[in-house]
Amino acid sequence: MCGIVGYIGKRNSINIIFDGLKRLEYRGYDSAGVAVINDENEFNYYKKAGKVKELEKDFNGEILDGNIGIGHTRWATHGEPNDNNAHPHFDMNKHISVVHNGIIENFKTLKKKLTQEGYTFSTDTDTEVLANLIDFHCKTTHDFEKAVRYALTEVEGTYGLAMLCNTEPDKIIIARMGSPLMFGLGKDEIIVSSDAAAIIKHTKNVIYLEDGEMAILKRDGFQIKTINDVDIQREVQKIEYDLEQIEKGGFEHFMLKEICEQPDTIQNTYRGRINFETYDVKLGGLDSVREKLFNAKRIIITACGTAWHAGLVGEYMLEHYCRIPTEVEYASEFRYRNPIINKDDIVIVISQSGETADTRAAMKEAQRLGATVIGIVNAVGSTIAREVDCGTYIHAGPEIGVASTKAFTSQLMSLALITLMIGKHKGTIKEEEFKEIVDELKILPGKMKEIIGKMNEYKFVAEEFKDSLNFLYLGRGMNFPVALEGALKMKEISYIHAEGYPAAEMKHGPIALIDENMPVVFVAPKDDTYDKIVTNIEEIKARKGKIITISTDHDEEIKAYSDYTLSVPKTVDIFAPILNSIPLQFLSYYIASARGNNVDQPRNLAKSVTVE
Ligand code: G6P
Repeated sequence: MCGIVGYIGKRNSINIIFDGLKRLEYRGYDSAGVAVINDENEFNYYKKAGKVKELEKDFNGEILDGNIGIGHTRWATHGEPNDNNAHPHFDMNKHISVVHNGIIENFKTLKKKLTQEGYTFSTDTDTEVLANLIDFHCKTTHDFEKAVRYALTEVEGTYGLAMLCNTEPDKIIIARMGSPLMFGLGKDEIIVSSDAAAIIKHTKNVIYLEDGEMAILKRDGFQIKTINDVDIQREVQKIEYDLEQIEKGGFEHFMLKEICEQPDTIQNTYRGRINFETYDVKLGGLDSVREKLFNAKRIIITACGTAWHAGLVGEYMLEHYCRIPTEVEYASEFRYRNPIINKDDIVIVISQSGETADTRAAMKEAQRLGATVIGIVNAVGSTIAREVDCGTYIHAGPEIGVASTKAFTSQLMSLALITLMIGKHKGTIKEEEFKEIVDELKILPGKMKEIIGKMNEYKFVAEEFKDSLNFLYLGRGMNFPVALEGALKMKEISYIHAEGYPAAEMKHGPIALIDENMPVVFVAPKDDTYDKIVTNIEEIKARKGKIITISTDHDEEIKAYSDYTLSVPKTVDIFAPILNSIPLQFLSYYIASARGNNVDQPRNLAKSVTVE
């Protein structure tokens, strides 16, 4: 949700900023822009609707020469994504330059006040108001830092900000309230970024800014303060991954790479947490809440998007295997509907990025109401990871493709591990079944590899259905959320309308949509729901729908009912959603590719949604 990069050092900033922006593009790609301060202490800038690539193609490297600069890749909130509304923004005197991630909620009031002071505006954005407000305070304070502080005390809303002032060209000031921001410490240089992806090429030493803080960054050092001018000491942290992990590594798209990585990422999720000899599960991050979890009367899971679907699978797991009543809430709804939560409740928040604004707000609401909040997070050091009471990282590594794939299966694995830990302790999972599940874990990555090996089958089916206008996805039990997730993947990257339903619910409405043009994807493994789902398949067949089944290997019966079958190896029920998701990820991927879509950066979406 908007990416910010800044550079101050001895090198020419522009290439560092462009490279960083490209790595942050998953956060938004409606428009991009850069501003640098040149040797004459003037701003040179360039901004444009579209992707960073377009900007880079057009810009004139000579003009943008300068070793201090800021850049931005935008996901539009206020004002359409045209050249004019692209960041950086300036005050009317071109004295201050600002890039911003977030929303200034009281910008209209501030704009009115500044208009009365004679300020004029050339864009529709809230950010331009802030640039003028800082300039306004500069007039009285003659001090950039003070002016930023005074301006920010007037601002309501969220921000990650990087700011330049051409009369104090030796510093970048950054500030944070609700939108992530960090800076990396290189040799005689500092690189600012919304996340580590833009920094890792230059240094692994980073400092995370917290809400309500600002930092004054110079070539030879930095100072962190609260917005109220109290000094802060902060430890340097190490980025935990390598550059290769955020590169495509020969794959055509990040999404394809990430789908194919899943046999490894799933192992990273359970590595060191399962003892295959003693059949024990240990989640170090949850040590402090073990007793609470074992005695929980109720668990509430809250998340957004794909993570919410993982939560729905988690509900089935926790209720079936641990007998704990579990509810799943959209984070965006949870926070505003006066939820009934008490101090004995456990709230699990799931987030790949650890930055989703709605999920973070739901977490805070749960904490305010006294619940114990556990995080299931991928991005190490992210805001949610730092603010939860305790948690478990899924260790899926950086996920760059906007459509979440490997994070989803690792979220499912984390939920399974929590389920196993509780179920074993409570005795709600019988010893024999527990052993069967743990033994299965050892061979699960191999089974995932087999599924990934069938790419040509997925391509073939994708080719058949690439021009479809609609898709229906149906599943039962734990595989109903898998159907929802399959439909979401299809919508996100192929732009084909797709719906997920519990298979039996289909006859209460969606069946009216069925005709010979409607592809229906059934998630139909050989489990307790099998006979029922076969009946549902027959109901669709009788109405001439086109049937694609995700079935269990060697299930000959289902082939007779299906137009196409994509089979996966048999596994224990708790891991079935993990295996069944993979063909659905491939199906959406190959259909989107066949339609010529930008798979990694689908239109209108952003990977990390840091606004409400
Ligand atoms: C965005 C992304 C989705 C993601 C959701 C939640 O909408 O496009 O892929 O599932 O946010 O993100 P989180 O980082 O909290 O898991």
